[in-house]
Amino acid sequence: MSREYAREIVLKIADAVAGGQVVPVETAHVSGVSYLTIGDYGAEFLEFLASTGAKVSVFTTSNPAAVDLGGVLTVSNEVLKGQERISRALRALGVSTVFSCAPYDFVLTRPRTFHAWAESNAITYINTFRDAWSDKNPGPLALLGAIAGFVPRTSLYTLEGRRPTTLVKIDVGPLDSLEAGIVGALIGERLGSGVPYLRGASFIDEESRREFAAALSTYSSMVFAVVEGVTPNWREYLEIAEFRDRIEISRDDVARYLKDVGDPDVVYFGCPFADVDTVLWILGEVKKRGRAERPIYVSTSPGVYRQLGDLAKAAADLNVHIFAGACLVVSPFTRGFRHIATNSLKAIFYIPRLHGVKVFPCKRERCIELAYA
Ligand code: F3S
Repeated sequence: MSREYAREIVLKIADAVAGGQVVPVETAHVSGVSYLTIGDYGAEFLEFLASTGAKVSVFTTSNPAAVDLGGVLTVSNEVLKGQERISRALRALGVSTVFSCAPYDFVLTRPRTFHAWAESNAITYINTFRDAWSDKNPGPLALLGAIAGFVPRTSLYTLEGRRPTTLVKIDVGPLDSLEAGIVGALIGERLGSGVPYLRGASFIDEESRREFAAALSTYSSMVFAVVEGVTPNWREYLEIAEFRDRIEISRDDVARYLKDVGDPDVVYFGCPFADVDTVLWILGEVKKRGRAERPIYVSTSPGVYRQLGDLAKAAADLNVHIFAGACLVVSPFTRGFRHIATNSLKAIFYIPRLHGVKVFPCKRERCIELAYA
């Protein structure tokens, strides 16, 4: 009965947006699970679904919540209670409450498999760096799709819809995390939509790949790019490409994007959530210099937080505050800051809009320096 309810809704949506066609999915990732963003109405929707006895039929993970593991971000009792209602409903539905925006860390999606994911940075990551296929599903649709086992066969679930439409020449050199984010943002702003095919792009590490994926999908509606030599099956994409435009991104374009960082009161890493390697790099840099004079906040997933063991809590002695399962972008805790320095283009986009706090870009080495007066 309850699965039927989800199937009916997904089929109706498929009628409207995909000519009635659906595609079976291997995994799902649901967004809109933070009490801060969905409030009581969202909690009631999830509780209603759970009350029908519905269960997800594929492995399903959840996006970050309003309450962090580690207790760094203080929240009201109302938020605590609301989040607990949401978490309970998700568990009743069979969702794995990993509270991470980087589920690709542990869901190792294979090329040419189908997924119903709803977090834009993660969708862009698996599309671009794994050629695992997901379209940008709204949160409720990803959840209903997880219960039904399928979603509407929209554009990015078809090879035709993944045909590259713009050739983007990248003449910047190996991209660090800030440069990768700026390149993603520039492509997003210049194109807005379509499928970019990047020539000449190389990423120096995992963090730079994440920052590229997050920025591209923040500054545009695009959640897929083909990177020559990097995206699995890129040769096939090049063969079917129909380039309507060609653009170039140079070192000067990237340099123009950089503004004076000024005098931050806080440094922020981990949007998208930092992996173990990034956290260890931050701790290594701080240990070399001694306790940071300005606080450094690092958001990561509960999984990474647990892997770090005692390191996560001990970092507070160095003025490095590692927290998990939530982030500074959506937390009202951020309103207590005046001026944030970060290497995340996604944080630069959202924090001023959501919280009215100034945010400036810095390369990650420079971000660390800024934590020392
Ligand atoms: Fe993740 Fe929060 Fe950024 S959910 S992608 S750290 S906005």
